[in-house]
Amino acid sequence: MKTLSTSSPQGLWYQHAVFYELNLRAFYDSNADGHGDLPGLIQKLDYLRDLGVDCLWLMPIYPSPRHDDGYDISDYCNIDPVFGTLDDFKRLLDESHRRGMRVITDLVLNHTSEQHPWFQAARADRNSPFRDFYVWSDTGQEYQDARIIFVDTETSNWTFDPLAGQYFWHRFYKSQPDLNFDNPAVQQAMLDVAKFWLDLGIDGFRVDAPPYLFEREGTSCENLPETHSYLKKFRAFVEACNPDALLLSEANQWPEDVREYFGDGDQMHMNFHFPLMPRIFQSLALAERAPIEEILARTPELPSGCQWATFLRCHDELTLEMVTPEVRRFMWDFYAPEPRMRLNRGIRRRLAPLLENEPARIRIAHSILLTLIGSPTLYYGDEIGMGDNIWLEDRNGVRTPMQWNSGLNAGFSAAESLYAPLIADETYGYPRLNVASQEKDPHSLLNWLRGVIRTRRLHPAFGDGTLRLLPCENPAILAYLRQNSDQTLLAVNNLSADSQTFRLDLAAASLTPLLEGETIQEDGSFSLPGYGFQWYELSSNPESKVS
Ligand code: NOJ
Repeated sequence: MKTLSTSSPQGLWYQHAVFYELNLRAFYDSNADGHGDLPGLIQKLDYLRDLGVDCLWLMPIYPSPRHDDGYDISDYCNIDPVFGTLDDFKRLLDESHRRGMRVITDLVLNHTSEQHPWFQAARADRNSPFRDFYVWSDTGQEYQDARIIFVDTETSNWTFDPLAGQYFWHRFYKSQPDLNFDNPAVQQAMLDVAKFWLDLGIDGFRVDAPPYLFEREGTSCENLPETHSYLKKFRAFVEACNPDALLLSEANQWPEDVREYFGDGDQMHMNFHFPLMPRIFQSLALAERAPIEEILARTPELPSGCQWATFLRCHDELTLEMVTPEVRRFMWDFYAPEPRMRLNRGIRRRLAPLLENEPARIRIAHSILLTLIGSPTLYYGDEIGMGDNIWLEDRNGVRTPMQWNSGLNAGFSAAESLYAPLIADETYGYPRLNVASQEKDPHSLLNWLRGVIRTRRLHPAFGDGTLRLLPCENPAILAYLRQNSDQTLLAVNNLSADSQTFRLDLAAASLTPLLEGETIQEDGSFSLPGYGFQWYELSSNPESKVS
């Protein structure tokens, strides 16, 4: 039963949506086996609705040996039994839709698990029709210009398979052989997978790792024209199945290259703004808006019907691929002083520990996330300021069980042993930090976030308005207008720990503050406490007055 509408008077649903990424395994365990599951998530849907979530993004839910937490799929048209059944998934869709929420899940186009029957058949027999589903080489010398992504683990994008007698190509772990998109049968197989889930009623996909679908000698094997042609075809197919379905793409690229993933509005509806994310942290570290300002100046206009996805943290390391080596060094020194906090070209920490659990810093980061551009994506647990465990392998330290209450296993599970240890330290441990206690506290991060998300929802220009950065003599101030045909909004953020006074040239506009707080504003002169911020609605159009 669908009760969702495609577009609001202001625009398309995803241009106004708040997304919430969750690891099903970590969310809520309904059958006491130590793993979160679909029936468990269904029990928590009211919590997500009350937070103000419009669309859930589930990390991969398919059968998988889980060498990469499900991003290594061994059966695209099923649910990992540890999570439940296809019927459970249909129930999740119905129950979410009934609450006005949509559901998307990761679709991994680029590679399968080595355990996938296609790969097993391919490696066992050169004459198998599946041999050409993958990319093989006798020498493992081709495509030397393609970078290695998991630099801490892999030394080559080629691995020799003794059974196959050849090398196979993989952009990620060697347990994730890349599919050969030059093979029309592979292209069709992925359309069939999309159709399977769209027929079930899914609302779209988070398209994993799209830049790497094709390989060509003498190139970086990223963002190739062939990839864009296929994504166009994929979009047309998805749209024919369900015109309302969303493709949220994970092209971790510079803005100029990302622009290509939107095509003429005929490829991906959304793409994460990867370069913006680290610059929010960099600006906070430097108490200067310049890094944000510079990347926004480099951010292209999008075709109509498209939208940026913004985020502070996700299930991966905080990637520093889209910054210069100097900035990467600075960010590592500032935010990841211990080697164990670093992974590949990034930082494996959660939001609250990154910001030293300082409420003002965590809140201003959300103020920017919710107002700057695009549609925000929250990462499960960050709404209560959960901590991490850097001693777990890979990225597992930011994927620990959700902390629901102070009881047995944080209220996550009644099992004796869990898929991962709980966070139990003094600051971030579940006895102190959990949903139940924050629900009771009117000043908690959780209740504050519910409030600001409500405020954002009441002001649609934060979703679809144009963005105009306002000049300000004070470099610590990030101020901008968001404007659509109905309203003009202003957000002011003090990126420094010290209180600041500053002027904005808004002349005659009269400002109505939208948030509680200690802002003082009179005749274009503002005063904000350290890491303070305020959002305003403007009652007259200031366009002509802003230089
Ligand atoms: C991107 C995903 O976010 C990451 O978790 C995964 O390891 C790689 N793609 C490979 O699928």
